[in-house]
Amino acid sequence: MSKVKEISRESWILNTFPEWGTWINEEIEAEVVEKNKVAMWWLGNMGTWVKTESDANICIDLWLSTGKRTKSNPLMRPKHQHQRAIGCVKLQPNLRNTPCIIDPFKIKKIDAILATHSHSDHIDVNVAAAVVKNCPEAIFIGPKSCVDLWEKWGVPSDRIKCVRPGDSIKIKDMEIVMVESFDRTMLLTVANDDETLKGKMPPNMDDLAVNYIVKTPGGNIYHAGDSHYSNYYVKHARDHKIDIALVGYGENPRGMTDKLTSSDVLKVAESLDVEVIIPIHYDIWTNFMADPKEIQMLWNMRKYRMKYKFKPYIWQPGGKFIYPDNKDDMEYMFPRGFEDAFELEPDLPFLQIL
Ligand SMILES: [Fe+2]
Repeated sequence: MSKVKEISRESWILNTFPEWGTWINEEIEAEVVEKNKVAMWWLGNMGTWVKTESDANICIDLWLSTGKRTKSNPLMRPKHQHQRAIGCVKLQPNLRNTPCIIDPFKIKKIDAILATHSHSDHIDVNVAAAVVKNCPEAIFIGPKSCVDLWEKWGVPSDRIKCVRPGDSIKIKDMEIVMVESFDRTMLLTVANDDETLKGKMPPNMDDLAVNYIVKTPGGNIYHAGDSHYSNYYVKHARDHKIDIALVGYGENPRGMTDKLTSSDVLKVAESLDVEVIIPIHYDIWTNFMADPKEIQMLWNMRKYRMKYKFKPYIWQPGGKFIYPDNKDDMEYMFPRGFEDAFELEPDLPFLQIL
């Protein structure tokens, strides 16, 4: 039993974080994906693990660090992409809302870490360090902006694959196809703070960000990173069959448009011609939190007139989704337990206490 004199701030941190310990690591490892199905886990923000029937395992945009943690500097970093966009100066109160659900240092088996772009909530030095050390076969896949970061962090170059729209990579029974990103905020993300963007041509988006289509025997998954709406989603749907799309949803603060609105989410689903649209990202930032029930409500309002063929799905960080098993479920609920009630004789003063 712990005694107060043995407890320190360090012991508290080590005994408490990550809050879910290795629960999800164990769940993913133990999952055996049935034939013609595909399993996914939402790991918070845009972090998504995909596992196939041949045991291909990849994780896209896994990020296990924090947002703001102190008010000591009341100002935004000068030349931050949001400051460039709308001229704001006050510190952004973006605190991390979702716990770190998976322990990166307990990941034993993964084929690839993918990042859609280099914003700090989509790529993580802790994840990179853990995977470089513990999973010698794993490769790192991303656009040039992410490759530059991984190389700077010391990820060996021979384990990194730099990709652009039009490329594809095969991993076991999985084919990952890179398509265009529409994350215009990335166009304002410039490493050199002295650089002025006014009046200049923007950089090439294909070096900065990509979207991924993960094709598996169980279904095809579109990961949109932080893409905004684009009419070109229709072209992606012409070129590729897409069953499920994961998109970044959030409640944009006044003066800022960085996440898809409920209406945008439905339009992306229609454009990509998916069966299931799953909004994510809205969980993570305290200042962009949104209610996905709004998407469900809007979908219900419109579904007959618009002849929607897709369904929105409200997921939970840490939740598992099997396609096609869960495609009509609409909402996730964690396992509730207690299914073995009365397997043993209760030990009660009297039965009526129940
Ligand atoms: Fe993001």
